[in-house]
Amino acid sequence: MAGISDEDIQKVRSATDIVSLFGERTPVSRRGKDYWCCCPFHNEKTPSCKIDPATQNFYCFGCHEHGDVFSFVMKTEDVDFPDAVRRLADRAHIEIHESGSSTPRGYKERLRWVCRETRDFYHTQLMRLKSPDADAARAYLAGRGLGGAIPDDWQLGFAPGRGVLIRHLSDLGYTIKEMIDANVAVQYEGRRPSDRFYNRIMFPISDVQGDCIAFGGRVVGEGEPKYLNSRDTPLFHKSNVLFALDKAKATMTATGTAIVVEGYTDVIALHESGITNAVATLGTSLTSQHIRILWRHAGKKIVYMFDGDAAGQKAIDRALEFIDDTMTPEAGPSRVDLLACTLPDDLDPAEYVAAHGADSLRAHIEREAKPLIAFGIDRRLARYDLSTPEGRTAAFSDAISVLAPIKDSLLAQQYAVKIAGRLQMRENDVLERLAHLKKPERRDFAADRSATATSAAKGRPGRAHTAQEPVLPYEESSAWGQAAPVAPLALPKAESNRRRYEREFLVLCAHYPTLVFEQAEALAQTSWHVPLHAQVADALLETVAANPEATVSEVAAAIGQACPDATGLLVARDNDAQDPSLYARFLAEELAIGDLSSQIDDYRLALSDPGTLSADERKLLLQTVASLQRDLATRRKAHARMRTH
Ligand code: UTP
Ligand code: MN
Repeated sequence: MAGISDEDIQKVRSATDIVSLFGERTPVSRRGKDYWCCCPFHNEKTPSCKIDPATQNFYCFGCHEHGDVFSFVMKTEDVDFPDAVRRLADRAHIEIHESGSSTPRGYKERLRWVCRETRDFYHTQLMRLKSPDADAARAYLAGRGLGGAIPDDWQLGFAPGRGVLIRHLSDLGYTIKEMIDANVAVQYEGRRPSDRFYNRIMFPISDVQGDCIAFGGRVVGEGEPKYLNSRDTPLFHKSNVLFALDKAKATMTATGTAIVVEGYTDVIALHESGITNAVATLGTSLTSQHIRILWRHAGKKIVYMFDGDAAGQKAIDRALEFIDDTMTPEAGPSRVDLLACTLPDDLDPAEYVAAHGADSLRAHIEREAKPLIAFGIDRRLARYDLSTPEGRTAAFSDAISVLAPIKDSLLAQQYAVKIAGRLQMRENDVLERLAHLKKPERRDFAADRSATATSAAKGRPGRAHTAQEPVLPYEESSAWGQAAPVAPLALPKAESNRRRYEREFLVLCAHYPTLVFEQAEALAQTSWHVPLHAQVADALLETVAANPEATVSEVAAAIGQACPDATGLLVARDNDAQDPSLYARFLAEELAIGDLSSQIDDYRLALSDPGTLSADERKLLLQTVASLQRDLATRRKAHARMRTH
């Protein structure tokens, strides 16, 4: 069967629940033990299509269409059987192995090819197309200092529009559906499909490996919208992609620092000036998912650089809402040091390096970057006239509200005391006010990390801080981490379980090197909660890639060399699985489920911020959350079954 084994087909079938599959397209309601919906195959107003969860089949009493999960996908998405299997495999995050590699591996792989061909096509247009529009694009880039080798280095492009891309991709054998799914083409009801990007300068957006997965398109000169970005696709999720991460990751690891800016052009200007650890978000603020990714590559120092203009000021306020308990010392080794700084004179980073050079920018960061929390408090205090009691009162409420998301931490208390000093208020009054702050509602949505970290901080008797205890003013610490000698707190249960699973998974892979191949995807894609685990995962992948025959002791030696701190971890082997491969799959699924649930939390967090999303984006995000959630529920169920076996 086109090289997909029966075993894989069965795997996909049992990981797919027909009811949730239907539910992704059409409302489904329950009657007795069966589910009913309006038939997706003919037009009707009352449900006559029955879905039987026991047999995993459907049957329509109206049009007599029937089948299983695979035929449902074949019919609704107009694909053949192997493609239906591939799509459902993708949906269930199952890797299928196909023999005979003439057929492209899976649908996502097709979409990657669409993106790559699109990038190359647009690049050629920018370099060669003879037209007034293309001339204008080239002149615009050159005028902004983005000429010379830059278009080649960054694979910049020009989108002429007018269906030229669709024709090109069709000639290469791609379907309209594939183009639409990769979001390089669009089709509105009753209209012919058209190129998504028209008369724009194209910035390809790559994943961490450097494969193109999306685009940002800038108008040539002035116009609205200034940037049009790909919407989320099966390949691309804004909230966990950073522009230029593929180019920046090596320097991030080498310097232990990541620099986050707002614009594509800023990233390019910084890299060209020699600051090669810079990335940009894609028109959104930094999500906790982004922070985790950066933390994986850079260790824990992340510098968020805001433009000096009004948009930059807004971005700061949005970023302040993202403060959470992972930034407090109580978060232990998974703490991130998120520093912030702004640029003077309304400059953006590109303009700053053009005017003052890279060294000056480095010095500026060194001098000015401070913990996001301190930064936010200072900015709020600066808005008021602190020489009057009225000004001080207003400044106080404004400044202390920055601490609301982390109000129960020792760190918040230190900052509160500091605010008291600045405003000539009594510490006890300020601490009392802090205690009565309400945590922002939306925190309920945040990853359980933050919720549980707080309860752990609360739940520790004897550590409750009083104003009599000595506290360090925040200037004395360059990063929050060194703010105070905090006794290690017990980790929240969910978090310590997570870390144990991570460790067991890595230890298992290290002891059975063939598992590194089997679990390559999990090793590469897990959002590790412990930086050391991320390093070990990378070391495992690299070692086995370099030497597929590596023995256990060679693997251990290589890991010991790459990350000496990990030696203890590998010795502490606390499992003796009967079936290592099965156990590894179990652990990998456990980690993937945890990541998926964090991802859903991130989306919800984005949804809870009303300002940043257009109505369309909101709708799309809601749909994404709904389908991820169904996915999560299905996987949790399957996983629970696996647990009992
Ligand atoms: P900026 O307006 O600062 O863009 O928006 P920039 O990159 O500095 O653009 P230039 O210098 O004028 O060419 C910062 C980022 O916000 C997103 C883009 O990701 C942009 O890089 N953005 C901005 C949008 O998504 N849409 C817009 O209309 C504007
Ligand atoms: Mn700019």
